[in-house]
Amino acid sequence: MKVSILGGGAWGVTLAQVLLDNDHEVLVYDIKKENVDAINSLHHPFFNNVLPSNIKATTSISEVREFSNTYVISVPTKFIPSLLDTLNPLTRKSLFINVSKGIDPDNLESISDVVKRHIDKKYLIGYVNLTGPSHAEEVIDRKLTLLVASSKDTNLAKDVQKLFSNTTYIRVYTSNDVIGSEVCASAKNAIAVISGIISSVSSTGENARAALLTRGLKELVLVIKHLGGNKKTAYGLTGIGDLIVTATSLNSRNFRCGIRLGKGDSLETIYAEEKQTIEGIRSIEALHKLSLKYNFELPIISAAYDLIFNHLPVKECIEKLLLRDLTKE
Ligand SMILES: NC(=O)c1ccc[n+]([C@@H]2O[C@H](COP(=O)([O-])OP(=O)(O)OC[C@H]3O[C@@H](n4cnc5c(N)ncnc54)[C@H](O)[C@@H]3O)[C@@H](O)[C@H]2O)c1
Repeated sequence: MKVSILGGGAWGVTLAQVLLDNDHEVLVYDIKKENVDAINSLHHPFFNNVLPSNIKATTSISEVREFSNTYVISVPTKFIPSLLDTLNPLTRKSLFINVSKGIDPDNLESISDVVKRHIDKKYLIGYVNLTGPSHAEEVIDRKLTLLVASSKDTNLAKDVQKLFSNTTYIRVYTSNDVIGSEVCASAKNAIAVISGIISSVSSTGENARAALLTRGLKELVLVIKHLGGNKKTAYGLTGIGDLIVTATSLNSRNFRCGIRLGKGDSLETIYAEEKQTIEGIRSIEALHKLSLKYNFELPIISAAYDLIFNHLPVKECIEKLLLRDLTKE
């Protein structure tokens, strides 16, 4: 099968290698010529890996459109609307597989909403979210990874399951809970930033981190409930699985961003120095706004919002959480 990968960054190029390993054909699209040149000379633009000799990349959207009507969206979430605008007008029905993780803090749209808004219904075969605990750094080395393909259309979820699964290092499950998987994907990045912050603060240790992951998961479940997803998703690979891998590992740029915030670096400095996308900050903003919109409490997310957007010191954020009414678990 032919697949167009939209976004030749850490994850997009890594998934291109998975598809090539599975004997599919891929064309990677990126707006940055240096990334495209790197890929075409078989260098991963972010890692030291040598890429398979049959990988191809382009900066031409028309080439991508002609190549395939199966698209993998793998750009930072804030660029998805402009990416889809560039992709339009489509001339044939297309399948969208999204691997990006986030909710838009400006209009609170999930990525499936964005795709629905930008792609004419008559050209949309369907939408599948592919998520789960997956550091690109490991998948590019073909380390064992389990993912979930979520779609309202069970057959499409199964198609994507077959597309990415192999017998050596990738196993994909299916699910029908698109919104649950989108909330989990966004919330785990938010909690990873907070995990990084508390890891760098001397008044907290491993106990606090375990508590954060547990209570953070509870907040994630609340968001799923209010947006109409299935809370069971939170206890699967997409939820707790991705939360563990993101909120405890230095491979996670969200976790690393949190560490630097905790040490007092400004967001501006971190954004300027990190070459890759940090989705967690926008996720904190989006989740905080969702809790205000639907009128429910997300104490940890809101404390992080105060710290990052209202510049409340970490000590005061922790104090605010501890001052909450004592209650049963
Ligand atoms: N890196 C991972 O381990 C990983 C794993 C799972 C999911 N994700 C998610 O995948 C998404 C992409 O992550 P990444 O790590 O590949 O990010 P990245 O920053 O490494 O790469 C993003 C790429 O998108 C390109 N891009 C930006 N706007 C574009 C546009 N309009 N058209 C074409 N290309 C454009 C950039 O030039 C860049 O090469 C994020 O939402 C991330 O959360 C990442």
